[in-house]
Amino acid sequence: MAEQTVESHLFIILGATGDLTRRKLLPALYQLSNRGLECRDLSIVGASLQEMGTDAFRLWAYEGLQKAGWRHDNNLRAWCDACLYYQSVGSGSAQDYEALAGFISELERARATPHNRVFYLALPPDTVPTTIQRLAEAALLKSDGWIRIVFEKPFGHDVQSAHALNDRLHRYLDESQIYRIDHYLGKETVQNLLAFRFANPIFESLWRRDTVDHVQITVAEDIGVERRGAYYDQSGALRDMVQNHLTQLLTVMAMEVPSSFEAGAIRSEKRKVLQSVAPISREDVVFGQYTAWQIGNLLIPGYREEPGVPDDSMTETFVALKMEIHNWRWKGVPFYLRTGKRLPRKMTQIAVTFREAPAQIFRALGADGPSPNQLLITLQPSEGFSLCFSVKRPGRPFQFSDRALHFDYEEAFGALPESYETLLRDVMIGDQTLFVSADFTETAWRLYDRVIAEKQDVHFYTAGMWGPPEADALVERNGHRWQLGW
Ligand code: BG6
Repeated sequence: MAEQTVESHLFIILGATGDLTRRKLLPALYQLSNRGLECRDLSIVGASLQEMGTDAFRLWAYEGLQKAGWRHDNNLRAWCDACLYYQSVGSGSAQDYEALAGFISELERARATPHNRVFYLALPPDTVPTTIQRLAEAALLKSDGWIRIVFEKPFGHDVQSAHALNDRLHRYLDESQIYRIDHYLGKETVQNLLAFRFANPIFESLWRRDTVDHVQITVAEDIGVERRGAYYDQSGALRDMVQNHLTQLLTVMAMEVPSSFEAGAIRSEKRKVLQSVAPISREDVVFGQYTAWQIGNLLIPGYREEPGVPDDSMTETFVALKMEIHNWRWKGVPFYLRTGKRLPRKMTQIAVTFREAPAQIFRALGADGPSPNQLLITLQPSEGFSLCFSVKRPGRPFQFSDRALHFDYEEAFGALPESYETLLRDVMIGDQTLFVSADFTETAWRLYDRVIAEKQDVHFYTAGMWGPPEADALVERNGHRWQLGW
């Protein structure tokens, strides 16, 4: 695949003085400039409700990037001064957006470059439709170059709201102009999973119901809800993590070989996986919520004690569920998905457990016998693969031990790009492969709407545990155990 070049454009961030811009977008954009993107090709216009001028924005960005680790970088100040601009959108009125349009046209004239624009909406989700409308009214979504719009989840909170949102967007934009970010898709290991599956036939031939016993997808976080209690309480783990990040991992794991490495072909195979998922039954879902944990003098507050969370909240901070994909490849293979906050450690891992040998000649060895083969795909904290198998311990008595072949991404290739860097570059070159399509969001909501509607019990777990015991029971019922990393 030939590397596409970035065409000269303006990158306009709405919500430019917020946390996302400072923590993720500016570092990613600066990193792209370090890799050769010059201001001539990439000028950045910050816009937000805050009154400030370009100089103040440059200083704010400079200080933010210094804090983010570029303190000793000699080019940083020059980059901020040459590539960043700012225009306030006052109260967000139609006139304010006309002023923004004037500012953008003036800048495009001065730069004498094509009228290509990326609009990154780093904004609260409920303001996205109005912002798009304002941009359209100010004729900012029309130009003789290309226009691309980027925004972040949540893409609705159920199938109806997702559909309504997509409808609003499609009034002004074609789907090919819309880039919905799921930052998990920008992680190198997720992309490598496609490479691993479709470039290594030895594994692909094992990727099916005859050989795979079950699959576990775990996204564990050690942090709580931090300062996002008010948002999180309206969302919960199922909407915040499962409907998007975990479902994306599921589809990349389970999809068929696409006809090409094009966004359309890949998206279509992912959608088919979702369409084949059998309705998830209520007994196959466990919801949990963390409670306080006292370690010595340190008190980790429970979810209900977090700022912004009502003290009788029944919002889940943990979900474990079992699903089945009713297609030729996967029928009968359980896929377990699990995510939670305040678990013992940060770990994102996909564990594929293969079937045991059909005739177990070592059965008599009991616990000293061989374990099933496993492939562990780790996305966090380190990225890589481990292929686990049983070997005979030297000498007598005849006993087995589990060992693994490890591949560590960073060890092999050095530091990996941040997912935002990958995703922003893809927006700039117009590659939608790693972005979420309108129909994916709606199909995914269709899967989980019933699960949310049928939610009854929320089981409590002490912060620092691997979720409530009911989650263990869920897998044990099928003769399985949760995998806790290698
Ligand atoms: C976000 C969720 O999408 O992903 C957060 O809203 C969560 O609640 C975060 O903490 C996890 O991302 P990562 O990359 O740290 O695993």
